[in-house]
Amino acid sequence: MESRSSQWYAGTDRNAYIHRAWMRRGLPAHAFDGRPHIAIANTASDLTPCNSHLDEVARSVQQGVYEAGGIPLNLPVVSLGETLVRPTAMLWRNMAAMATEELLRANPIDGVVLLGGCDKTIPSLLMAAASVDLPAVVMPGGPMLTGTFRGAPLGCGTDVWKLSEEVRGGRLSEAEFLRSESSMIRSRGHCNTMGTASTMGLVAEVLGMTMPGVAGTPAPDSRLLEAAHGTGRLAVEMVERERRPSTVLTRASFLNAIVALAAIGGSTNAVVHLLAIAGRLGVDLVQDDFDRTGSGVPLLVDLQPAGRFLMDDFHRAGGLLAVLREVRDLLDPEALTVTGRPLVSYLDEARIWDQEVIRVRDHPVRQDAGIAVLYGNLAPDGAVIKPAAASPHLLRHRGRALVFDTVEDMHARLDDPDLDVDADTVLILRGCGPRGYPGMPEVSNLPLPQKLLAQGVRDMVRICDGRMSGTAYGTVVLHVAPEAAAGGPLGVVETGDMIVLDVAARRLDIEIPPEELAARTPSAATVAGFVSPARGWEKLYVDSVQQANTGADLDFLVGSSGHKVSRESH
Ligand code: FES
Repeated sequence: MESRSSQWYAGTDRNAYIHRAWMRRGLPAHAFDGRPHIAIANTASDLTPCNSHLDEVARSVQQGVYEAGGIPLNLPVVSLGETLVRPTAMLWRNMAAMATEELLRANPIDGVVLLGGCDKTIPSLLMAAASVDLPAVVMPGGPMLTGTFRGAPLGCGTDVWKLSEEVRGGRLSEAEFLRSESSMIRSRGHCNTMGTASTMGLVAEVLGMTMPGVAGTPAPDSRLLEAAHGTGRLAVEMVERERRPSTVLTRASFLNAIVALAAIGGSTNAVVHLLAIAGRLGVDLVQDDFDRTGSGVPLLVDLQPAGRFLMDDFHRAGGLLAVLREVRDLLDPEALTVTGRPLVSYLDEARIWDQEVIRVRDHPVRQDAGIAVLYGNLAPDGAVIKPAAASPHLLRHRGRALVFDTVEDMHARLDDPDLDVDADTVLILRGCGPRGYPGMPEVSNLPLPQKLLAQGVRDMVRICDGRMSGTAYGTVVLHVAPEAAAGGPLGVVETGDMIVLDVAARRLDIEIPPEELAARTPSAATVAGFVSPARGWEKLYVDSVQQANTGADLDFLVGSSGHKVSRESH
């Protein structure tokens, strides 16, 4: 069968001449004889520091592609640095996915290697690849090594929150806090906790979209480059076998990913990302699947933010395949990987080498992990909480609401010594959903009021329509849908209302009569600071973004357009 790239390069007509001639800057004539052309969708960027090493990874992929008889082609794509991009990288996830999708479709390529790392990069690459459905394989950039401060390991992200709370609570000097800064990031690679980047790298592997055994390899580890070489070789084979995302990413593979997400104690951000990826493929996945399939799965990994260790400990202890072997009976044996073999066929050899870091099934960190999906008159379309990152005594709680309309409002008032708040108060932050912010930032784990920190309070119930960093922790109810800016009841809660959280019953309610709730008219006006954008991506985003419970994709990006382009450019 004629390769896709041959549609550009084969033949003797003027158009084929143009396509070949402009590419002959190092490529020999036999590059156009029908061999697979493999794009390397590369999110390397100096402004995405977690991915800045990906050019080196790309070189190893190139060598693998060449060795297998293909032609590697570097394709820089939109990159998002989680710590830098304003107002939040999530605003740009769908833009990155859309731009990459269109670039993959528009160019003469037969397959693609997806190089990602920092939080939004792997999700956006997978969304793009799913909508184009060319043979695609993810090569995760890997986590950084563990830094230490005063002799103790530092979990990047998680320890920033902890140390800054120590400063606010008066237990750490600002000078000491700033001294920790140079130790926080020890090496190349993404955050080394079980945050969103680590989670999405591992989830990509469980979905079947990486070479098995690769995700979680630390970025500076020489085995990462060996894996990149192998991934390049595999991409060529995938084109020859026509192994596409639609054959790998099935409902079975998504349910396997949910089991793994629970067992590793992964980030809540995986919920919106997996729903968005599934939406691109038409896979029937809903938010309740995370609760139905994930609850009851034991937490087997003792990693920050909920636990003690970090990603290089995880890799040393046996990594993802060792975890999956422990929950093998919960995995669908039919789900395939990019190699053409089922995921479960890779588990026989897996071993746990450190049972402190990765627990055996009979000795879990926690018996029931996963993500709980809550409903009630405060979240008619659902909200999520990660019980493993919460305080057990707060999982059933009744308290008075203290409402902040915006992040700025919260910052202005939170540390006011006269703020009417105690440890039982339920902190509510709204205006942080996909439309409201816009972009659904990671602000749901709002800081605790300074005067309560000084009293020794370490956790409170917090409720928000935004997201939470995968490196954060606490009793935080997030992704409340509909969000306040979409007319959800979160927009009409008033300070002083009683809020009832009951995670075991999966309920989140405001204790006011239904008539009163109905009488409080939800409107965008209740979301202080919400201004409908006038132009540009923000306008397109706010006008089209869906709610968190379906993945926060743009409504017109859901689904797939395939890889065919019928019209010539000249
Ligand atoms: Fe890039 Fe955490 S900031 S992974």
